[in-house]
Amino acid sequence: MKHVLSAPQFSKEELFEILNRAKEMEKIIESGASDLAKGKILATLFYEPSTRTRLSFETAMHRLGGSVITVSDTKSSSVSKGETIEDTIKVISGYADVIAMRSSEIGYAERASKVSRVSILNAGDGAGEHPTQALLDLFTISKYFKLDEEPIHVVFVGDLKYGRTVHSLERVLRNFKNVKISYVAPKSLQIPESHRHPEDETYTELTDEILKSADVLYDTRVQEERFSDRDEYLRLRDIFILTKEKVQKMKDRAILLHPLPRVNEIHPDVDALPQAKYFEQARNGVPVRMALIARGLGI
Ligand code: NCD
Repeated sequence: MKHVLSAPQFSKEELFEILNRAKEMEKIIESGASDLAKGKILATLFYEPSTRTRLSFETAMHRLGGSVITVSDTKSSSVSKGETIEDTIKVISGYADVIAMRSSEIGYAERASKVSRVSILNAGDGAGEHPTQALLDLFTISKYFKLDEEPIHVVFVGDLKYGRTVHSLERVLRNFKNVKISYVAPKSLQIPESHRHPEDETYTELTDEILKSADVLYDTRVQEERFSDRDEYLRLRDIFILTKEKVQKMKDRAILLHPLPRVNEIHPDVDALPQAKYFEQARNGVPVRMALIARGLGI
């Protein structure tokens, strides 16, 4: 089985293999579809809302010629009757050949992998990790910068405490030489210590200087669903808003990424700027997830 559970599981060699496989998958998408996964079934099990992640997994499986079964609303499944994740996975892994799952709790994908008969792809576990997103983020970065060769300054902005995509991408990026990481967040949403290396820089303000020095600016949504105090959420929600004026200060070659959905943090005027790559980033989810499904199926 080839699970995808957590970003640090990947070596640099394996990351490059996945990026190369994703490039091959792009060619399949251009040509329409393939029958690589004919007769195979992907189950998508999402205990938290999702648009892009679930649909791109399902699109990926269709493009590979396989089929999809799904539980999108856990209220209509046995989970709402109190079934454990272990029992659910034991059953679903008897139906499907690979499972993509999202939970609101940290560590559920790991628990699932312990009892599953098939590969588990972690599509986000609470405020923990989102490794498949990190791989599509890396794929997007690799289209604009030569990984392991040129210096890349990656600046993470927003909710770095709860933003699981940041947690996974940070860990994936550590594999490559010449990557410098900076974190910009209000104090209460700063990156957890476990994701901070001594050489990283942390800031509480998004200054012009940071905007000008970023090669990759990775913005994130303040994760409303993780707050117990609503006033605190409302106070922090609009703390950094990227406007056209701000993004125009970035280098011409720099890229602005965001895992989406955005709420207020990037003004729609920014979308027309050359740095704005977040919709392209979302599209890259399909070839990367095709590569991960194929890997999970052993094909
Ligand atoms: C992210 C997530 O679910 O963690 N979305 C996604 O998968 N593209 C980011 C978010 O919800 O803010």
